[in-house]
Amino acid sequence: MLEVKHLAKHFGEKAAVKNVSFQVNQGDAFGLLGPNGAGKSTTISMITGLLSPDEGEISMHGKTMRKHPKFLKQRIGLVPQTIALYDMMNARENLEFWGTVYGITGSALKDNVNWCLQVAGLEDNSKQLVKKYSGGMQRRLNIAVGMIHRPEVLIMDEPTVGIDPQSRNHILETVKNLNRQGVTIIYTSHYMEEVQFLCERLAIMDHGQVIAYGDLNDVRQLAGTLATITIDTQGDLTALVAELQQDLSLKQVQNKEGALVMQSTNAASAVSKAVLAMSRHGLQPTKINVEEPNLESAFLHLTGRQLRDGWDGASA
Ligand SMILES: Nc1ncnc2c1ncn2[C@@H]1O[C@H](COP(=O)(O)OP(=O)(O)OP(=O)(O)O)[C@@H](O)[C@H]1O
Ligand SMILES: [Mg+2]
Repeated sequence: MLEVKHLAKHFGEKAAVKNVSFQVNQGDAFGLLGPNGAGKSTTISMITGLLSPDEGEISMHGKTMRKHPKFLKQRIGLVPQTIALYDMMNARENLEFWGTVYGITGSALKDNVNWCLQVAGLEDNSKQLVKKYSGGMQRRLNIAVGMIHRPEVLIMDEPTVGIDPQSRNHILETVKNLNRQGVTIIYTSHYMEEVQFLCERLAIMDHGQVIAYGDLNDVRQLAGTLATITIDTQGDLTALVAELQQDLSLKQVQNKEGALVMQSTNAASAVSKAVLAMSRHGLQPTKINVEEPNLESAFLHLTGRQLRDGWDGASA
């Protein structure tokens, strides 16, 4: 539906984006993940037509930005990294203003404004001046403004930066809700947890390049990291552990304080193998825990660096 091919952008000597390609499908929640300065905002500015690329092409439904900028701009909404609202107006007036900028009037404008207020959960505060809003509410209105022309794709540039965890959760739920209603989302973040929560497909950017791209699970697997499986049970594990250690698809099989612990690239198959073997040894699983590899380990594996602390890590 939306395709980005071989995008490149320089600022003077600085190559901010180098040969970036990816595809976003209709209905996707697509994550664009990368550390500070990776080139995420520059990429987004090109997709929204705010910056023209030095090289490469953006197209939507087969039409290119170069030839059909209006077609694309009507179908793409942007939630900018910095809040862009008139704080001396209320939420409804802000939405009406931006709707008019898009040429929407009359009952269509009213419908769109109401829909935006509802999705952002601001119906009860629509008459309040924006300067009286909390940071989280301003962020939500910022998202609503990006949707005023009912775009097919909503691109969000780090919409949760600088807000408290509760507002963050509210925003994540808002985005999930929008996606459920059929809006395609491109979600930019340097928080792994957000992308893992919202997105089924993603691209990881670093130093202007895409270094990993695909389904969330594929990208996690790409890291070569293994899921850790822990199965609690009662009884003697010695013979069971010895047997499972012979299975080459299972790694690090051990008895850890009476629990069976092992690693595998395929957690589901490992669990079923272990449970079958346990029943042969007369053991009953009492609790099974699977810890899948995460994007943090994928990023670390790909770059040798840590992306950034997650929000829990940051607030803990
Ligand atoms: N207008 C500009 N002029 C010069 N350099 C720029 C400009 N915009 C971005 N850059 C540089 O291009 C690189 C990519 O920046 P960009 O803002 O796209 O990164 P980002 O991934 O959005 O980072 P952040 O997470 O900090 O928002 C950075 O090194 C940045 O300093
Ligand atoms: Mg940015």
